[in-house]
Amino acid sequence: MGRETTFAVVDIGSTKIATLIASRNGQDELSVLGCGTVKVEDIFRKGILSNIDRTARTLAMSVSAAEEMAGIKVQNLTVGFSGEHLRSFNSLGVVPVSKTENQITENEVEAVIEAAQAVRLPFEREILHVLPQEFFIDQGDGIKDPIGNTGVRLEVQVHVVTASTAATQAIYKAVRMAGYEITNLVLNPIVVGSALLSAEEEEVGTLLIDIGGSATDIAIYYKGAIRHTASIGMGGKYVTNDIAVGLQIPYNLAEKIKIASGHAFSARIDPVEMVEIPEIGGRQQSKVSRVLLASIIEARMEEIFELADDTVKRSGYSNKLACGVVVTGGGARLRGLDKLANKVFGLPIKIGYPEKIHLPEEFYGKPEYSAAIGLLAYSLRHPVDQEEKRNILVRMIHKVEDAISAIFNI
Ligand SMILES: Nc1ncnc2c1ncn2[C@@H]1O[C@H](COP(=O)(O)OP(=O)(O)OP(=O)(O)O)[C@@H](O)[C@H]1O
Ligand SMILES: [Mg+2]
Repeated sequence: MGRETTFAVVDIGSTKIATLIASRNGQDELSVLGCGTVKVEDIFRKGILSNIDRTARTLAMSVSAAEEMAGIKVQNLTVGFSGEHLRSFNSLGVVPVSKTENQITENEVEAVIEAAQAVRLPFEREILHVLPQEFFIDQGDGIKDPIGNTGVRLEVQVHVVTASTAATQAIYKAVRMAGYEITNLVLNPIVVGSALLSAEEEEVGTLLIDIGGSATDIAIYYKGAIRHTASIGMGGKYVTNDIAVGLQIPYNLAEKIKIASGHAFSARIDPVEMVEIPEIGGRQQSKVSRVLLASIIEARMEEIFELADDTVKRSGYSNKLACGVVVTGGGARLRGLDKLANKVFGLPIKIGYPEKIHLPEEFYGKPEYSAAIGLLAYSLRHPVDQEEKRNILVRMIHKVEDAISAIFNI
């Protein structure tokens, strides 16, 4: 495996493209050398990148800004994205262990993980991540690392995360058009936890929610592994849009008012409080009740949390979340969000700020960078993407299988 010392990650979000360039020292600690964030609008449709040109231009600006600050040029990027096309499931794989030695090596581990992902997928979907949860030797208790143990049968339970091929192809196209190469393509929900959660939170059970502009990503951690991931096609942009429609004001003004005076828990607002709407397009300056503004925000955020809660219930892990809920992403900056989340989930709520890695000051108190920082942690662990290489192989197998099915109609 290559020992790169510089890492470049790009989070392609629905409201911003954020690049971080970091270096690693001998103790495997990262320090950020450069960053570049460029705002973006309307590049996704139904969670799939639809405006490739604009994405390529914005991405090039974002990476160039980070390169300039870091004083280095990069070529290879770890790229993260999300979207409601994401699907996930847990799967089991089993392999026999070599009879002559009975000792489990890296080969058996690779083979069993391979076996766990040998599931038939629809033609238009692909596996992006296969995350081991536990290994079992001869039906014993679950363990994290089976290498060096002996037995005759090795089993693994994995979490498989898939994406729409159209969505991944669009990302590859945009990044290539910008003049860069993707070494790791990552679905954000699998990395955000590494920017925020403690080992205890991952072990005891935590629901992580990343509220972005167009997507709200979910990851459930339990016993030190990801148990469930999902992405809901709604986020802060929907809140702003509701304010624009409800108050009959332009979107950009609604965004400003949301940030300056928004609140997600209307019961906490003094009914006499008013919010000023400045003069716009010949319409005179006016005032609206802050309770009204908060109730518009609350209705949408409650809907998003209830959809998240449904996903958690369906996953079967709702009674395994003793560490409660960590909410992050730009949307987590809304005042009163913790109280609303507590009402919906009935669990302790924490707003997740990325503080685990040593970062420049501009990242403090900015939950919208959790995904980018999670991508850095991921790229440190995947300097050469073994996973991607394996997936290319699996994708080829799926494609051959699908072609055979199509030809023989089986
Ligand atoms: N202070 C704030 N109060 C309320 N909302 C905020 C605040 N700051 C940012 N937001 C909202 O956060 C959202 C953007 O969050 P973020 O930067 O995490 O999204 P993204 O990563 O670009 O999008 P996605 O994850 O959906 O692809 C916007 O809808 C914005 O209105
Ligand atoms: Mg995001």
